[in-house]
Amino acid sequence: MRVCWSAGGRLSVPVRALARSGRGVPVDRVLTLVAVTVYLDHAATTPVRPEVAARYAQELTRVGNPSSLHSAGRDARRRLEEAREQLAAAVGAEPAEVIFTSGGTEADNLALKGGYWARRTADAALRTVAVSSVEHHAVLEAAEWLGTHESADVRRLRVGGDGVLDLAHAEEVLGRGGVAVVSVMWVNNETGAVQPVREVAALAHAAGVPVHSDAVQAVGHVPVDFAGSGLDAMSLSGHKLGAPVGTGALVARRSFGLEPVEHGGGQERGVRSGTLAVAGACALALAVESAVAEQAAEATRLRRLRDRLVAAVVATLDGVTLTGPAIDVPGGDDARRHPGIAHLTVEGADADALLLGLDMAGIAASSGSACHAGVQEASHVLLAMGRDAERARSALRFSLGRTTTDADVDAVVSALPAVVENARRAHATRRSSRAASSGRTGGGHTPLASAGSSGGQV
Ligand SMILES: Cc1ncc(COP(=O)(O)O)c(C=O)c1O
Repeated sequence: MRVCWSAGGRLSVPVRALARSGRGVPVDRVLTLVAVTVYLDHAATTPVRPEVAARYAQELTRVGNPSSLHSAGRDARRRLEEAREQLAAAVGAEPAEVIFTSGGTEADNLALKGGYWARRTADAALRTVAVSSVEHHAVLEAAEWLGTHESADVRRLRVGGDGVLDLAHAEEVLGRGGVAVVSVMWVNNETGAVQPVREVAALAHAAGVPVHSDAVQAVGHVPVDFAGSGLDAMSLSGHKLGAPVGTGALVARRSFGLEPVEHGGGQERGVRSGTLAVAGACALALAVESAVAEQAAEATRLRRLRDRLVAAVVATLDGVTLTGPAIDVPGGDDARRHPGIAHLTVEGADADALLLGLDMAGIAASSGSACHAGVQEASHVLLAMGRDAERARSALRFSLGRTTTDADVDAVVSALPAVVENARRAHATRRSSRAASSGRTGGGHTPLASAGSSGGQV
């Protein structure tokens, strides 16, 4: 089945209709149904940009391994290096600092594990890995793995009730010494909170510690200048900004020591092996360049849509509040937010029921946190912000993007009251049946998806 995007972000789903004529002759027709899907999950993945799809398709018709010496190989190498320059220029880095990866997860693992091993090899006393407590699992699990398998001492850096890093705690941890590497994400994928990465870099450098940032939700959404940030390394992912899934990069200063995580031909700076994906690199570089070029104007457009959505929902629904740094209120700091992420807490409702209800209304949204075997987990981000487990399961994330329009916001505003009412009713029923069968524990959450769904944080 072909699924394509129409202007305005609606899914156009051509379906093969196997109709039969009156005389029983099969008529194989292709009908185009325009489903009323409103896609507001751009932080999970966003459509490939048309110019990027065209560039990618063009590259797929070419042959040549950039490591080969013949002219096809040399030509592939030239295109790859041009992509490296294009990407570097867009994010304020040097071409030699770009290490192409398969995405954000790989880049995060390389930075955390590779950075830790390089530092510990240089000085066996450097065993602490400091990460913010609201990191994506790609960073958290990499750090925890180092704790379990490499005797690392993992320190989680605290955040405040708004999800923004507690700099005093970071300073305290860095001041204790023995820190191999520190990692603080640029923008949180659930709440949209922008972290003070420049301040963290300054603190880390004062303590002689290299600093990495997961900038997967930042590049193309907020201004990102690698050189000006003071960071030693940052991760980015193609499918969050209009390139295909499976593309990404770790941007790392030459001075940031890295040991390889996987071993092979050592194609990328000797630290990342595997035949170089020229088509993916070209698509990624173009997507980053386009997204960065449009970032300021797009942020202004999305902020207006996001603020309209939040204002309308909060005004009409009791017990629905915006999570994270305030917007458009006295003292609110909009520079501390991703322009397209609206993260709401819906008192007395479970995320899975809300998402299912929205889906039935043709609206794709997310809770932003992991879902395992179809059951919504309490978000570790919200728990770190001081929420109790129940409120940490009441999250609803609308993430707006390039295809989002006013009509999408209107659709949410009109559908949400009924969805919330139903979800609250289901929650109350579940609570009372749990209370009635006191003693029995576990369960109680409606599976979000059918059997066979797997976990994953978006
Ligand atoms: C903040 C953050 N980091 C890392 C990742 C993982 O990136 P990828 O899907 O490219 O592996 C994601 C994806 O959801 C993310 O939001």
